[in-house]
Amino acid sequence: MKKGEKYTYIFIAVLVIVMATYRGYHEITDPDPGIPFYTTAAPELKREAELIYKKYECSDCHALWMVRNMMQNVPAPALDGIGSLKTEDWFYKYLSAENPQSILPTRLKDEYKMPSYAHIPEEERRLLAAYLASLKVEDWFLEETRRMEYEKLTGKKYQASVAGNEQAR
Ligand code: HEC
Repeated sequence: MKKGEKYTYIFIAVLVIVMATYRGYHEITDPDPGIPFYTTAAPELKREAELIYKKYECSDCHALWMVRNMMQNVPAPALDGIGSLKTEDWFYKYLSAENPQSILPTRLKDEYKMPSYAHIPEEERRLLAAYLASLKVEDWFLEETRRMEYEKLTGKKYQASVAGNEQAR
C-alpha cells in the first residue's frame, strides 16, 4: 500500500467512526420529541369550548395551541398544558370569581389583567373549565411549562423550589 493510500483509508475510517458516533449520540440525546401539548377532551367538548373561547376573545391575551392574537401584546400565561398545573374545579372558581385577582394576583395594569367572567352563563364557565382541565402537557415538558407560567405570572426568574411551593396553593 502506498503511503497516500494508507492515509486515505485511515481518513475514511475515522470519518465513518465519527459519523456513526455522531448519529448514535443524537439518536440517544436528541430524539425529535414532537409537540408536548395535547387535550383529553372529547371532540364535542373541544368544539363547544373553542367557540366560547373565541366568542370572549381569550386569544387577545392568551396563546393556545401556540396561537394568539398577534395584534395584542398582553403577557398573560399561555394556556397550553395548563390542565396539568391546575384542576377543573380551580378553573371554574377562577372564571366565576367577581375578582379573579383575589385567587391569582396580577402584576399588570387593569386593562391587561384577567377579566371576570362571573356574569357569563354558568354552562359556558363549566365548559371552559372542563376544556382548560383537559389541556395537558407531556411529563418531559411539565417543568418547562411550570417555568413559563411562573415567569409570566410574576415577571421573575423561575427557581424550582420557590415556584414549587407557590404551586402547592
Ligand atoms: C385582557 C386580557 C385577558 C383576556 C381577554 C383573558 N385573559 Fe385569562 N388571564 C390574563 C392574565 C394577564 C392572566 C394572569 C393573571 C392576571 O394577571 O390577572 C390570566 C390568567 C388566566 C388563567 C390562569 C392561568 C394560570 O397560569 O393559572 C386562565 C385559566 C385564564 N386566564 C383563562 C382565560 C380564558 C378562558 C379567557 C376567555 C374566556 C381569558 N382568560 C381571557 C389575561 C386575559
